[in-house]
Amino acid sequence: MDLGVNIDHVATLRQARGTTYPDPVAAALICEANGADLITLHLREDRRHISDHDVFRMREAIATRMNLEMAVTEEMKQIALSVKPDDICLVPEKRQEITTEGGLNVADQAASLEPFIDTLQSAGIRVSLFIDPDESQIVASHAVGASVIELHTGAYAEARSASQIRAELSRLETAVKIAEDHGFRVNAGHGLNYENVEPIVAIRSIKELNIGHAIISEALFAGLAGAVRRMRELMNRAGG
Ligand code: PXP
Repeated sequence: MDLGVNIDHVATLRQARGTTYPDPVAAALICEANGADLITLHLREDRRHISDHDVFRMREAIATRMNLEMAVTEEMKQIALSVKPDDICLVPEKRQEITTEGGLNVADQAASLEPFIDTLQSAGIRVSLFIDPDESQIVASHAVGASVIELHTGAYAEARSASQIRAELSRLETAVKIAEDHGFRVNAGHGLNYENVEPIVAIRSIKELNIGHAIISEALFAGLAGAVRRMRELMNRAGG
C-alpha cells in the first residue's frame, strides 16, 4: 500500500511567521528518501499554507508522484493544467474550516464535475474524488467519469467507542468492495495516525493512504525522516 505524505503543515509553520522556512519542498525530499511513495499537497483557495510557487517548485523537485489536492474551481483547473501533477484529488473546500471536513457531494455537482474531470484526464492527469464511504457517492463518482476515489477516513478516526470504530471500519470495507466492483482504484485518508492506521492497512485492496498531520506532528519528536520511516514500517508490518 502506497504512503502519500501530505506536507501542507510544513508550510503552515512557515506561514505562521511569514518566513521562508521551513521549506515544504525540502521536506518532501526527506519524505521521499524515507519511504514516501508520493507527495500530497493541497493548494487551498485562500493559500493558507501551500503557495502557487510551492506547487511549481514541488513539480520540478520530486522524483515520486505528485498528488495535488484542490477545489473544483476554474482557477485551480488552470493551475493544474499548467503544473500537470501525476494525480489530482478533488476536495470540497470551505473557507472557515480547519481542515477538509467532509467528502465531495458528487451527485449534487455532477453537471460541473463531469467536464472538469474530462479536461484534466484528457491532459494526462489521473483524477481522484475525495468522498465519504457511501454507496451513493461511489455510484455518482463512477457516473462522472473519475477513475480513482479517496475514501474519507475522518469518521473512522474520530470514532471513540469500540462499537463506533467497528461500525466505521465496516462502512469503509463495504465502500471499498462497492468501489472495486465499479472498477475504481481506491485510496483513503484523513485523520490517520500511528494508533489507528493498522486496521485500514488490513483492508488490503486500498492502494494508497494519504497522511499529513500525524506525520508532521511526530516529526517534532522523531525528526521528519524518523516520522516517515516509522509510518512506513508500521504499514509494512500491518500489511504482512
Ligand atoms: N486526504 C485528503 C483528501 C485531505 O484533504 C487531507 C487533509 O489535507 C488528507 C488526506 C490528510 O489528512 P491528515 O492531515 O488528517 O492526515
